[in-house]
Amino acid sequence: MNLQDLAAHVAEQFQNHYGRPARWIVAAPGRVNFIGEHTDYNDGFVLPMAIERYAVMAADTASVPGAISVYDTQFKESAKIDISQPVTKGQPKWSNYLRGVIAGFQQRALAVPALDVAMISTVPLGGGLSSSAALEVCTATLLEAATGKALDPVEKALLAQKAEHEFAGVPCGIMDQFISALGREGHLLLLDCRTRKTELVPMSDPSVALLIVNTNVKHELGSGEYAKRRAECESAARALGVASLRDATPEQLAAHQGKMDGVAYRRARHVIGEIERTVHAAEGLRASNWIGAGQLMYASHASLRDDYEVSCKELDAVVEIAGDIGLAGGVYGCRMTGGGFGGCAVALVKADQVVAITERIASLYHVKTGLEATIFSSRPATGASILRG
Ligand code: GLA
Repeated sequence: MNLQDLAAHVAEQFQNHYGRPARWIVAAPGRVNFIGEHTDYNDGFVLPMAIERYAVMAADTASVPGAISVYDTQFKESAKIDISQPVTKGQPKWSNYLRGVIAGFQQRALAVPALDVAMISTVPLGGGLSSSAALEVCTATLLEAATGKALDPVEKALLAQKAEHEFAGVPCGIMDQFISALGREGHLLLLDCRTRKTELVPMSDPSVALLIVNTNVKHELGSGEYAKRRAECESAARALGVASLRDATPEQLAAHQGKMDGVAYRRARHVIGEIERTVHAAEGLRASNWIGAGQLMYASHASLRDDYEVSCKELDAVVEIAGDIGLAGGVYGCRMTGGGFGGCAVALVKADQVVAITERIASLYHVKTGLEATIFSSRPATGASILRG
C-alpha cells in the first residue's frame, strides 16, 4: 500500500474506532542499510535509506484529559498511557516505544496533550528494517504536530534513540532513528555518526534497484549479542588507545594484534574495514559504479559473518544464492542488513531483472532452508512527515 492509501486507511480506522475524524495524520518510514553495519556506535559512517514501508498514526485531542489512548489497528489491541505524571514503562510491550518518546517530550518540558490515536505499520516486525525506530519517530512526529513545536531533526532522532535505550532496553546506535527522521526521497544518506553530518547520495538511476530479502527468521540471541558486540568494540578501542574504533587505522590494528585477544581483534578488523567500505561505496554509487559497490557489499557480508559473527545460516544462504546468480543474472552485490541474527538481506540488482531474480532467490532459498522468504523492492523514501495537520 502506498503512503497516501495507508494514510486514508488509518484515518478511516480512526473514524470507526473513535467515532469522529482524525485531526492529524503522521508517518515515519523503516529503513534498509545499504552498507556500514555495526559502525554507528563506533562513531563511523553508515549509508542507509528510508523504505516505502511506514508506521502511520491518525490522532485527535482526547475528550478526557490525562492519557494517550492508542489503538493498534492491525492487532486490534489498545494501550492507555497515563501522562498525568512522568511516563514509565508499561504494557502492552509495544507501547514502550511510544512511552519512551512521550517521556522524552515531558523531560523537555513540552506540554504533551491527551490524545486518541489509531496506528498501523507496514514495516515488517523484527525483520531488521527498524520497525521500532519507525514507531518512535512516528510518535515524535505526532507530538510535534499536536504540540505545534517542531524539534530540530537531529534532536528528534536522539530523543527517539533514547526511548529505544531506556524503554526497549536496546543499546542501539543512531542510524535507525536518524534515517527515519531525515530520509530523503530518491537518496541514500551517508551519515557520519561522530559529527552527525550527512551527505545525500542520489539513487534514482532507473536501471538499478534494491531488493530486500526477508529471511523470515529472527534468532533470539540477537539482542544480548548486540550489547556484547558494543562492549567488545569498546574494549578493542581501549586496547588500541583510541577514543573509538573510528580513530584506528588498519596499520595500528596490525601493530596491536599480539596485545589483544583474538575476538577483540576480529571485531575491530570488521569495524575499521567497514567504515572504509562505506565511504567507498558512497563514492561508487555517486559514480554509478554498481559493480564496485556490489563487491563492497559482498565484502561487508563476509566480514560480518566471519569477523563480527552476527550473520546466520539463513542470511548466508541468501547471499550465496545472490552470488551464484551473479552479474550474468543481474545481481551486483548482496549482504545482510541491520543488526543481524536473522532479518533481511539487501541486494543491488539490475532493475529489468527484478522479477526473475526475485523468483530465483525465493525458490533456491526454499530449497536450501525449507523456509519461505519475503522479497520486495523499494525506492528510497522520504523521512518522517506530517500528512495532515
Ligand atoms: C541495529 C541498531 C543500529 C545499528 C545496526 C547495526 O539496527 O539499531 O543502531 O547498530 O543494528 O548496524
